[in-house]
Amino acid sequence: MRFFVDTADIAAIRELHELGMVDGVTTNPSLILKSGRNIAEVTREICELVEGPVSAEVVAADAEGMIREGKHLAEIAPNIAVKVPLTWDGLRACKALSDDGHMVNVTLCFTASQALLAAKAGATFISPFVGRLDDLGLDGMELIADIRTIYDNYGFETNVLAASIRSVNHIVECARIGADVITAPPAVIKAMASHVLTDKGLEQFNADWAKTGQKIGL
Ligand code: G3P
Repeated sequence: MRFFVDTADIAAIRELHELGMVDGVTTNPSLILKSGRNIAEVTREICELVEGPVSAEVVAADAEGMIREGKHLAEIAPNIAVKVPLTWDGLRACKALSDDGHMVNVTLCFTASQALLAAKAGATFISPFVGRLDDLGLDGMELIADIRTIYDNYGFETNVLAASIRSVNHIVECARIGADVITAPPAVIKAMASHVLTDKGLEQFNADWAKTGQKIGL
């Protein structure tokens, strides 16, 4: 399973990248706003740091505008994946940009039918939003499982990129189902390392070790 980091925070990306935890990065207009940076500058910096796909999102509402913006974003670096919304215009832009050789991430996916259309339009990635479905009392993980089944039934090569990931459990469930990629905020990826029994066990080991009066290698 590939890990993408859902942020435009360079320091956070760098910290995880040094540990080999970053296979790619996803950004969106809200994350660019949060970074306080210029989209072209921060995206270029991320692309220089990370070898894998870096998603940068268009903001035009019509297909022609999305294609124009997408081509502009793709000029930033060869590892740009142009992110387009799952609207009819977004699907048109997806088809044109992927036919043109660009990676395309189709975002804001909330149903299996939308995911099926994105695959047929040549999407490299489909981004179903797990957390936002859970917010409505629906089951985001059921959508991941449905898309996995549908893509496997027909051999679609579009990667299932589970997005709007809010918890460690979301990531483990995605791994069980076989999502190709998850994109999560840095804090959620770091939380994967934590367990109360790890902390408690370490505390006990340290206390007992202190009582031995020994030192290692000194
Ligand atoms: O990748 C999409 C993601 O940023 C949305 O997450 O938590 O805003 O629903 P969230």
